Amino acid sequence: MPLHRLEENTSSLITSSQIITSVSSVVKELIENALDAGSNNIEVKLEDNGLSRIEVKDDGSGINKLDVPHMCLSSYTSKIRDFSDLEYLQCYGFRGEALNALCRVAEVTVTTKTDEDEYAMAYTMNKNGQVAFMKPSHLGKGTIVTANHLFLNIPVRRKQLHIPRRASEELRKVEVVVKSLAVIHPGLRVSLAHEKCLIWQKSAVTTLKQSLLQALGHHALAKLEEHSLIHKNFPSAADDAHPVRAYRRLLFSWARRGMKHEASLVSSMLIVPGCVSGVEPYRDEVNWGQSVKAVRSLPAPSRTTIWSSCDVAKSILRPIMMMMPKRNLGVMVDICQPNVDCMMIFVNRRPVRHKKLEKLVVKHVSKYYGAQYPQHRYPTCLLSIETSPAELDINVEPNKTRVLLQNERRASSLLLYLPCPSALGPSGMRQLA
Ligand SMILES: Nc1ncnc2c1ncn2[C@@H]1O[C@H](COP(=O)(O)OP(=O)(O)OP(=O)(O)O)[C@@H](O)[C@H]1O
Ligand SMILES: [Mg+2]
Repeated sequence: MPLHRLEENTSSLITSSQIITSVSSVVKELIENALDAGSNNIEVKLEDNGLSRIEVKDDGSGINKLDVPHMCLSSYTSKIRDFSDLEYLQCYGFRGEALNALCRVAEVTVTTKTDEDEYAMAYTMNKNGQVAFMKPSHLGKGTIVTANHLFLNIPVRRKQLHIPRRASEELRKVEVVVKSLAVIHPGLRVSLAHEKCLIWQKSAVTTLKQSLLQALGHHALAKLEEHSLIHKNFPSAADDAHPVRAYRRLLFSWARRGMKHEASLVSSMLIVPGCVSGVEPYRDEVNWGQSVKAVRSLPAPSRTTIWSSCDVAKSILRPIMMMMPKRNLGVMVDICQPNVDCMMIFVNRRPVRHKKLEKLVVKHVSKYYGAQYPQHRYPTCLLSIETSPAELDINVEPNKTRVLLQNERRASSLLLYLPCPSALGPSGMRQLA
């Protein structure tokens, strides 16, 4: 066959079916959009395991009338302006592809209302992501996206998802997606229903631990303990207004105590963007003298750095948090699962699959528990790492669930901080000083 350019519809369908791969990938993209829109309440409803209908309703900002014609077009996004913005990315989305891809493989309706709108409008989209039909609708502020008849134009995939065993596996995956995004946002209310039956719901809580309780239940949570890479002099809430100052104070206190390793390790994880030039030398663990000098010369937040230092540092100053199986559990089988989904790993609140981190956690836990540890199982655990978006590459796979950490060795060495039994206080908190 001579070389020829693929017709637009064919190439779009091929690309789209890599972004929207399954029911769970639709749910993931739509919840992420809802979170990016600042929602506090998200409802997910499925019919026929999601093959007839997937509906995600949120109470976020809604979509501005001027943006509506573009909301489902390829490469239209409100989240970044150019590639360099990825260095400060605070959202889940950035490609402007998910809704367009969904339109290519399902019948999509978007109902939305912003604060400025008098009433909501429901927009029916065509396969290219253009508005085909619109009518007024009933909805408070927020957005409902519905996707009907998923993969009708990709019969092999639809047939696969119709196989009862595959369908129930997919429903389990949807639950994993909903739970992981809900857990990492304690303040969020979420519900998941299938055929009008409630499968799971989470209320708004204040801590990650309370959030995890709702996902795992009392029985499983009682078998986990919290390890937090947090110093007792960690900046308090009062320091929040001056995160750079708080950060500097923390590093100083460690430097004074000769806790070089802690300071260099944590500072490598908690980079303050906007002061990147000042922070850069910390990455060099060996050159500690220079690091102390750099801490001293860290600029006070200026007007130009305030955006990143306040908005980003507020979140990066949160401790690195781990929930791991308790010591001396006795029987470990029920806290260790045959499926890797029981390991919740988040990088900047994004649920990710990171083979190296997973392997390290399994290795550590199995070493820690010795013969008690069941073979070929994964420990139920949560690991949440916060780092500068500039240190991450999320754009590795179409579904954004794999990340590359720039300094992977450092991220992995974080796990050296998983405590050994003798170093633990009664709460399981690692005491750094
Ligand atoms: N639930 C929602 N509430 C408010 N705005 C939304 C919602 N869903 C989508 N949007 C708007 O539509 C745009 C397109 O969404 P889409 O998911 O296709 O792209 P994205 O989120 O920008 O990037 P990505 O393809 O990486 O998800 C978004 O940038 C956002 O402005
Ligand atoms: Mg999106």
